[in-house]
Amino acid sequence: MKQNDFDFNATYRAYCEGLAEQTLYRVLPEHRPAGVEIDFSSNDYLGLSRHPALIAAAHKALDDIGVGSTGSRLLSGNVPAHEALEAQIAQCKGTEAALLFCSGYQANATVLAALLDKRVTGRDAVVLSDRLIHASLHHACRYAGVEHIRFTHNDMAHLERLLQEHTAAGKLVFIVGETVYGMDGDVAPLDTLDELTQRYGAFLYLDEAHATGILGRDGYGLLAGRKHPPGFIAMGTFSKAVGCSGAYIACSQAIRNYLVNRCTGFVYSTAPSPAVTAAIGAALQLLPSLQSERDRVMQMAEHLRSHIRSLGLECGPSTTHIVPVIVGDAAKAMELKRHLLTRGILASAVRPPTVPRGTARVRVALCATHTWDDVNRLTRALSDWVETSHA
Ligand SMILES: Cc1ncc(COP(=O)(O)O)c(C=O)c1O
Repeated sequence: MKQNDFDFNATYRAYCEGLAEQTLYRVLPEHRPAGVEIDFSSNDYLGLSRHPALIAAAHKALDDIGVGSTGSRLLSGNVPAHEALEAQIAQCKGTEAALLFCSGYQANATVLAALLDKRVTGRDAVVLSDRLIHASLHHACRYAGVEHIRFTHNDMAHLERLLQEHTAAGKLVFIVGETVYGMDGDVAPLDTLDELTQRYGAFLYLDEAHATGILGRDGYGLLAGRKHPPGFIAMGTFSKAVGCSGAYIACSQAIRNYLVNRCTGFVYSTAPSPAVTAAIGAALQLLPSLQSERDRVMQMAEHLRSHIRSLGLECGPSTTHIVPVIVGDAAKAMELKRHLLTRGILASAVRPPTVPRGTARVRVALCATHTWDDVNRLTRALSDWVETSHA
């Protein structure tokens, strides 16, 4: 029997129509559209997704083990390659232990939620996060049902005021941020974060999705080899500079053991596939040999930033391989994206809610597969856009 006359399809359709009115409606883009000669939209920062060593390792694992991992790690899915890779990651990061996940979203959404579980800690917790953290970390806070307060981006004085207030109230404090912010390309003040974490007895959770592979000691991320506070997790993904998919957390053995027992995204999810696991292992071995590629990427990014600023355009506080051209208005970001496409250049327009309102941008990701000629074509296209007074 019909319960009521709620029209599901009309409701969701009307929502999308509302987005379209604000130039915020998204459609899936064509993969490598015809006419694109240079792609600045990819997170394959080192071009490893097509590297022969990774492909060979994946092929071998397919032949030896098969396509699927057949179950959760706690059931049939645990293969020696998973544990070997975890040992390799712990060594690269300089932590006691590490744990693998099938995606970065899954890791963030479920690891942080497991840590916040009041049934385990017995204390009220508050998350103090940077304003610009990834959606997956918001997901964790919502799921855990804890108080979540955002401090101004990279503003350590603001964070400290919040720490004073909430530790005085006896709450357990989790500080959450990223080492490199994926839409702005700037770096968190890691020394101050460490110091504040220790001083206020907080937990520090940092996401290295955009640093892993491309920054830090041997490319293993900005937290590799640092001395960490006792309550600490470095999370990172294999989906960007490592050229694969999946994610890790690097942490103490006690936290790893806890998560193996309590983290829903680990316990109730099929283990990463053998082929991807093997490819990640090959990539981690390769990373130390790719320093000159990393250096060149950073030089191209610096050159691009100087050019953008010389045109009177904004690229915010970026200091890494991620260089946004911040134009403010969503329609204008789409217009710049279309202009670049007419020159054979692909770069992503990023609009709210991915970035705060009024900060829509075209995000340029410099990769080792780019040449100086590619960067020069981009700078010329930006100059033309400004000259034709679209800016
Ligand atoms: C900062 C950050 N964390 C986590 C993720 C999610 O990682 P994944 O794509 O592996 O799910 C992303 C990117 O998508 C990201 O930019």
